Amino acid sequence: MNDARNTGKSRFADIVIPGSLTATPAAELEWEKLGFSVTITRSMAGTVAGADGVFEDPVVVPSGLLAIPAHACALNYGQSMFEGMKARRGVDGTIRLFRPLENAKRMANGAARFLMACPSEELFLKAVVAAVKANIDYVPPYGKGSLYIRPLLSGIGSTLAPAPAPETLFVVYVQPVGSYFKGLACIDVRVEEQVQRAAARGTGWVKAAGNYAPAFKPAKEAKAAGFADTLFLDHSGTLIEEVGAANFAMVKDGVLYVADSPSILKGITRDSVMRIARERLGLEVVFAPLELDRVLGRGAFAAAGPADEAFCMGTAAVISPIGSMTASSGAYTFGTGDVGSVTARLFDELDGIQTGRLPDPFGWTMQID
Ligand code: PLP
Ligand code: COI
Repeated sequence: MNDARNTGKSRFADIVIPGSLTATPAAELEWEKLGFSVTITRSMAGTVAGADGVFEDPVVVPSGLLAIPAHACALNYGQSMFEGMKARRGVDGTIRLFRPLENAKRMANGAARFLMACPSEELFLKAVVAAVKANIDYVPPYGKGSLYIRPLLSGIGSTLAPAPAPETLFVVYVQPVGSYFKGLACIDVRVEEQVQRAAARGTGWVKAAGNYAPAFKPAKEAKAAGFADTLFLDHSGTLIEEVGAANFAMVKDGVLYVADSPSILKGITRDSVMRIARERLGLEVVFAPLELDRVLGRGAFAAAGPADEAFCMGTAAVISPIGSMTASSGAYTFGTGDVGSVTARLFDELDGIQTGRLPDPFGWTMQID
């Protein structure tokens, strides 16, 4: 393969196959019908690093398929990770990113664990902003969804023996999306008691591509049984890990309990929700390993009964209230099974900050002009 850095061309531009994807014009999108699925948008931004780990300046190209070898480390050995962010069009028409440097930092932590070249925070942000600006008309109108941003870091260089790729791709593509679950309406979740998502000292905390495929089967089974998703437990089978692709919290007697574990993703939404709860709502927040029994009101917590409210949270999931949870011991309803008042207030504050509907006392949003 040629090395574009020697020829002065963009290596990233070289691997995107021209004319291989057709974008759906933004004008043809029906914002009300957006779900969480693929739309080919106009352009993507990207850059490639060689064995020296130095990325080229990111460039924007028309969306296209990538020409990568079958021997790519990412395809064979899973040296790949991603981030998830959103751009929201505000009540004032302004487009805002939410805490973008936190995503850059998390990707850097994961890349260090996977021995991957990683873009600097500056380069990460530059590519994200470039991708959003190039697709600005795909940002849904206020109240009708978000532009989901997917920064992807993949070892695309060839390796036969399992070892880090000599070439790394950083690409940012964007997708107009609606709700991941049901918005601010309750979902029912199944407790997954057979399969665990992450090993105790493994890499569940990395947003690694390989962490997601193992959840497909339990999630499919849960959905076939009428549930929105699965709740994973830790290796002991007693502590909460995560709901599919979102962190978990519950409310009991006015206290917010947020599940922590060394093997789950350190959610940016989770961190934001905890700060809003403490500093805006004046709630007591317990951020610690969370017992399944405490959530369901079983065992040592039987006298207290199930949580008053439960929800999961993430960039895609936002704050999704959980009305009930089903384990092998039975079904448990939280409160009345409807959206709880603390959940609704947290949602309102988070959404308000992200859209400029409320002040941003934490300085979390970044306007795109
Ligand atoms: N847990 C998992 C496994 C996820 O994929 C996500 C989504 O990014 C989260 C938690 C929530 O993280 P964040 O709030 O940073 O989006
Ligand atoms: C996100 O919330 O950004 C995620 O990455 C979840 C996802 C796997 C859809």
